[in-house]
Amino acid sequence: MRTDTARTIRLKDYKKPDYTIKKTDLTIQIFENYTQVESTLHMHKNPEVVGFPVLQLNGIDQQIQQIQLDELVLTESDYQYEDELLTVQPGKDEFVFKSITHIKPNENTSLEGLYQSGTMICSQCEAEGFRKITFYLDRPDVMSVFTTRIEADAKQYPILLSNGNPVEQGELAGGRHFATWHDPFPKPSYLFAAVAGDLVRHDDVFVTQSGREVSLRIFAEAHNAHKTDFALDSLKRSMAWDEKRYGREYDLDIFMIVASDFFNMGAMENKGLNIFNSAAVLASPETSSDDRFDRIEAIVAHEYFHNWSGNRVTCRDWFQLTLKEGLTVYRDSQFTADTHNATVKRISDVDMLKAAQFSEDAGPNAHPIQPQEYVEINNFYTATVYEKGAEVIGMIHTILGEALFRQGTDLYFETFDGQAATTDDFIGCMEKVSGHDFTQFKRWYVQAGTPNVAVEESFDANAGQYKLTFTQSCRPTPNQPEKRPFVIPVKMALLSEQGKELPISCDGDFNSDTSVLLLKEATTVVTFSGLNAKPVASLFRDFSAPVTVDMALSDQDQMTLATKDSNAFNRTNALQSVFVEVIRKLNADIDSAIPESVDELIKATLGDGSLVDAVKAQMITLPSFAVLRTMFSPINAQALAFAREKLKRHIAVTFAEQWQQLANSLASAQPYEFNAAEAGRRALHGTAISYWVSSGQVEAINFAEALYRAAENQSDRLNGLQAVLSSDDQERSEKLLTHYYRQWKDDTQMVETWLALNAGQKSFDVAQANALMAHEAFDLTNPNKVRSVLGAFASNFEAFHAGEVGNYQFIAEQIVKLDQVNPQVAARFTKVLESWRVFTEDRGVPMKQALEMIVSTDGLSPDVSELAMNALK
Ligand code: ARG
Ligand code: ZN
Repeated sequence: MRTDTARTIRLKDYKKPDYTIKKTDLTIQIFENYTQVESTLHMHKNPEVVGFPVLQLNGIDQQIQQIQLDELVLTESDYQYEDELLTVQPGKDEFVFKSITHIKPNENTSLEGLYQSGTMICSQCEAEGFRKITFYLDRPDVMSVFTTRIEADAKQYPILLSNGNPVEQGELAGGRHFATWHDPFPKPSYLFAAVAGDLVRHDDVFVTQSGREVSLRIFAEAHNAHKTDFALDSLKRSMAWDEKRYGREYDLDIFMIVASDFFNMGAMENKGLNIFNSAAVLASPETSSDDRFDRIEAIVAHEYFHNWSGNRVTCRDWFQLTLKEGLTVYRDSQFTADTHNATVKRISDVDMLKAAQFSEDAGPNAHPIQPQEYVEINNFYTATVYEKGAEVIGMIHTILGEALFRQGTDLYFETFDGQAATTDDFIGCMEKVSGHDFTQFKRWYVQAGTPNVAVEESFDANAGQYKLTFTQSCRPTPNQPEKRPFVIPVKMALLSEQGKELPISCDGDFNSDTSVLLLKEATTVVTFSGLNAKPVASLFRDFSAPVTVDMALSDQDQMTLATKDSNAFNRTNALQSVFVEVIRKLNADIDSAIPESVDELIKATLGDGSLVDAVKAQMITLPSFAVLRTMFSPINAQALAFAREKLKRHIAVTFAEQWQQLANSLASAQPYEFNAAEAGRRALHGTAISYWVSSGQVEAINFAEALYRAAENQSDRLNGLQAVLSSDDQERSEKLLTHYYRQWKDDTQMVETWLALNAGQKSFDVAQANALMAHEAFDLTNPNKVRSVLGAFASNFEAFHAGEVGNYQFIAEQIVKLDQVNPQVAARFTKVLESWRVFTEDRGVPMKQALEMIVSTDGLSPDVSELAMNALK
């Protein structure tokens, strides 16, 4: 095990840098087998520092050609380069440090630093990739003005890009050329970007609210170039929204996006030059489903919004990551909610939070949204920092209301513009504008774990009083055995049996403008008065806090909430809870009876004309395994899979006629349009087809195949194909997958989807996984393809957990192999094994053994070893 370079970094050790870099001038010369980077750093000593401390610059895999301090070229005895640090002794307050180094982008499979992606060269620097490009103070509180000159072969790399504005370009000897870019905004190195390639460019223009024209440009390799329209449109709508909702205008004259086929994550907000995973930016109706359109729009918005929440105001250190990510996820969710349907967005966000974050918070790698220590920062780009971080921002909004929240963000952006800030700075602004004390609230930043709120009710008919007792608790998480009470906002209403909202008068900390009740103590008792019958409590409306709730409801109250709650989020939640309880019973005893309430609820939902299609689809779709598994302990994988399947079949068979009718009535021959109503129609269509096929009727599977074959857009195609793949008709499934590949093998995104469709089949196993990884379409150095196969397999609960136990050994072997190629991506997969303690022994033991196999491997990256070792602690 290689742990020599792995050390623990702690928030409490934060120290301001001894030196800063006012100006950074780079010359990047790209040659066939290596790249030369010449870096000139204009440095100042921090005036608070006494004496002349040594200067230590980060640098990984740098082949030193020359090191210079001012005019003096240093000899090898004047500097030290070891443990990824270059040490020199400047002995001055102000000096110029210059280095010339060679790097090898074409051998860089980590996809961090400068690397080759297909035919282009591009960069990824967040969090600590810049040190793979040149020696630097690679930390976000060092902000510098960059000028970047790129030189390369003119034919191979006609397009040369970096941050900011183009200032010069021209020919060079030997068929080479250069371009120089200047970014006037000081920025940390993690926001640096450089691109060289033979790229097709698509242009558009945005006029800002103050009347400035911004040139918008999207670049893609030729094979991807026909799919950029939607991203350009999304970008313009994001720019307009941020002006309107947050008063934030774009600052440079150019905004560029580059699509890259090889990318470790979704996208990156580099100043003026966003680089995207091509799967997160390229869309066309023929090749992208509604979900994909949704995701692309959200990611384009997210990266654009970072220009203020992240770039203009950046993070002091990486412990502040949620400052920019939580806030920006919150902002992009608001954008999607405003653009389409707020309820649909909220339901799917919460679903995602429960699936990805609740499980993380319950596992051995649980951490607060502001971690207090880390070994490898790349391991902390998590659902906790992002999604729970966004929930925490959302709670501030819920507590203060829109007007004060906006005053708070205005103050934050004004006060910290051009600076590297902390989460305390953000909260401080919210306190200043509102006078509200957030001291206790800040526990959300430092305490990990999902709080549970147990609610008990009682009604005193004589006094007309209804009493709610809230008791909060939070299970221990690593290094945090004991938790102090959180501030928990409960957005709520009291409903009559008919679902009418009743006026609230109570003795709790209740704000009648926002309908929010604040819980601050371990136990809070609230008495509501003036009620002549027991009301039905609709609590945590719109999921007003990231907690789990235990409340024993009578069947009748449960029915009232699931059919009549005026808050569509809570209504959905109530209905889903009924499904969970039925699955719980079936999980314990597969022969237990399915209560009639299920049929009543499906009937009521399908027949409710007030619900839009998208919400209907969300309501009647059974909770995913990813969500279910967070609710069971221990998880008996096979029992759970059978339980869910049995309920699904019951609903499928009972309503077969309705599914058939919906499958027919919701079909449309109109040209594809991506909007809330159309996407909702297709979502409900897909749900109906899926249930119909699950009923076992031959007509249904014929219908699904016909839909697949006739489809002119990817949503219809997948609605048909996925229904066939979920059936027991193996032969037909194989036939269609073969057909799909033949038709789309030249389309990168379609091939990625094809790999995931294969690995998503219920019968998928190790033999098929090996075959798929040997297929011409697979490439271990491409993260999208790895995610399409291994990611899809690992999240395919029925195949991965309810299938053969050898799956765990297989995934461990792949992690070890992948770690040699790309540690960041490999580390993500160790997470699929970390929950071994929650499974019954038949699964838990082999999962644990697979983890042990990983940690006993020599030469592991800090990325994988940190997560795998924590999982075994
Ligand atoms: N800042 C980027 C975004 O959320 C993601 C960067 C992820 N970096 C990483 N090392 N995982 O938009
Ligand atoms: Zn982000």
